Amino acid sequence: MFIQEKLRELDLPDVLKFKNGAQVKTLEDWEKRRDEVKQIIQENMYGVLPPRPLHLRAEEINSDAGFCAGKATLKNVSLISTFNDDDIFSFPVTYFIPVNRKSVPAILLINFRSDVPDKYLPAEELIDRGYAIFTFNYANVTSDTPDSPDGIYRNLNKHREKSKCIGKIACWAWAAMRVMDMIQSIGCIDKRNIAVAGHSRLGKTALLTAALDDRFAYAISNDSGCCGASLERGKGGERHSMITATFPHWFTPKFVTDISKNAEIEFDQHFLLSLIAPRHLLVGSAAEDSWADPMSEYLCTCKVNEVYALYGKKGLEHPDRAPVPGDSFDDGDNHYHLRAWKHYLSREDWNRYLDFMDKYVNR
Ligand code: GCU
Repeated sequence: MFIQEKLRELDLPDVLKFKNGAQVKTLEDWEKRRDEVKQIIQENMYGVLPPRPLHLRAEEINSDAGFCAGKATLKNVSLISTFNDDDIFSFPVTYFIPVNRKSVPAILLINFRSDVPDKYLPAEELIDRGYAIFTFNYANVTSDTPDSPDGIYRNLNKHREKSKCIGKIACWAWAAMRVMDMIQSIGCIDKRNIAVAGHSRLGKTALLTAALDDRFAYAISNDSGCCGASLERGKGGERHSMITATFPHWFTPKFVTDISKNAEIEFDQHFLLSLIAPRHLLVGSAAEDSWADPMSEYLCTCKVNEVYALYGKKGLEHPDRAPVPGDSFDDGDNHYHLRAWKHYLSREDWNRYLDFMDKYVNR
């Protein structure tokens, strides 16, 4: 058993063992352990996300009924959060929904830019495949630089001591959940088929978002790598010590100063991925992306099958070998593909994710 042997060599912490040493045997046990895992992941890495704001409303900025030859309606809105202390934070969200459809599956893409279309957001192709897209530019939520406590970071950390501040990945995930709140009030969206997607650092963000918000039926992680879908143990390319040196602002301070330097941490990234079960996990890797380490992303995706099994599900169905470029494993509840070439969110990746989602979407 090639994959099981690889996983055994890594000697991963047991996600199915409670802190008190008891073993998870049933789904009921897992539901309890799941709360511990949520806590471990947040307290040690990303920070503990606060609840939704006191009030949330979307203010329409403009609407274009003729988007992509009239095949979709596009709207730009400002999503406005009001907090208990009367502070207000707003950020722009763009969405487009194919017209003349009753129950439209949707994907929330957390993106690096506001442009629609964008190199990572092939708008017309996605419309043609019958998906609604919601998107925001992460930099409008809080800036992606160290020592910049701006945007929502300021609101969400206002009443916390420094050591307990949440990192920016958690801030972007919190914003994605607010978009999900807004989506709930849009009648034509198929609420059972909503995905959250992101590339690279925003793939890490998409995974955290889906892990903590069960309303997302699919988590799409594209080349998310270190602190995303890749396991820290045995990983090539980027490791905890490197990511925290360059991007300390992504994490809780405890992770940067303390946990990331310890080889024996009590968790690994399969803890994060296990929280997505029994919903669908879609992981895409690029063959030349050694910084993210495709094999590590693959092993982590295989590892969480043990949690899907508790739900009577298969998780990822895969052959007992390392993936090769061109592989796309689609038969189980989860998806993995390895694309040729470099770190990028390509049309090819999108097609793999949509082919998988199409299997579950009733039209
Ligand atoms: C850097 C970082 C990665 C991250 C990537 C990205 O390379 O080290 O962890 O995924 O940026 O977001 O593009």
